Amino acid sequence: MNEVVTKTSSKFKSHIIYIFIIVIACGALYYYYDLSVKYLNIINDKIIETNELKTNLDEMNQRYVDMVSQIEMSENDKLFLINNLNDLMQNYGIKVNEVNELSKAVHIDDELLKKYSKYYFLNENYTPSSTTLINPTHTLNNKEMYILTETKSKLEGMIEQAARDGVKIVVHSGYRSFEEQQKLKALYIKTYGVSKSNQFSADQGYSEHQLGTTVDIDDGKSGIVLGFEKTPTFTWMQNNAHKYGFIMSYSKGNDYYEYEPWHYRYVGVELATYLYNNKLNFYDLDQKYIDSYKGKIFD
Ligand code: DAL
Ligand code: ZN
Repeated sequence: MNEVVTKTSSKFKSHIIYIFIIVIACGALYYYYDLSVKYLNIINDKIIETNELKTNLDEMNQRYVDMVSQIEMSENDKLFLINNLNDLMQNYGIKVNEVNELSKAVHIDDELLKKYSKYYFLNENYTPSSTTLINPTHTLNNKEMYILTETKSKLEGMIEQAARDGVKIVVHSGYRSFEEQQKLKALYIKTYGVSKSNQFSADQGYSEHQLGTTVDIDDGKSGIVLGFEKTPTFTWMQNNAHKYGFIMSYSKGNDYYEYEPWHYRYVGVELATYLYNNKLNFYDLDQKYIDSYKGKIFD
């Protein structure tokens, strides 16, 4: 009996173990199945994403090809685009130059190109921004004379070129302050009287010499007289002064003073050349027109 009970219980045990093993195996199978389904889904999603991406890339590529082929097909459009771009760049360049000119003009003294003769008055307190000694080898008796710093190299360049051309230029007078002009005018009035003096000498505050840009010159022999007109130096100045930015202010028959073939004022190469080419005098021009050259005065 005991033996039968023992056999039955051991059979039961082994069934339980089988069932247990089967349950574990099923559980494991389910777990792996579930896992593989999950991975399969993820892989599927990735495949779908990849395909979508590929589709998008293909579409983009197609669009690019379409664009390129359109550009290739339309030579006129291409030309139009290129010309527009060139125009744009050119306008940009012009604007940049204009802005540069304007910013230069802003820093240049307004007075330098004004017409100072009898009717145009320069402030009595006016002094040039900076003056520099003219090389004394170029001045009368090597006297100390000054000129606006920016114009020194132009004046000396002109004198040196004239010397190379066999022509002598001697500076008799450069910058004159308000007070110096006042003293000079008083002396002339004492000698020649008011009316005569007014014909050749500016009142203090009206002289171009106060600007620092003006010089009186001769050939080292004639002196500051009408006879200077007959010298080779005068002829050389007539033909070359503009190249250095200088003009003769008081031509024959001008409205302000007697003819002064010795009196030269710096107005900049561009304006002086314009006057030379068009056979015009500085004082014939409209002040507004003259002012348009301000930005280029020291070029
Ligand atoms: N001789 C000229 C006019 C001056 O005095 O400035
Ligand atoms: Zn003078």
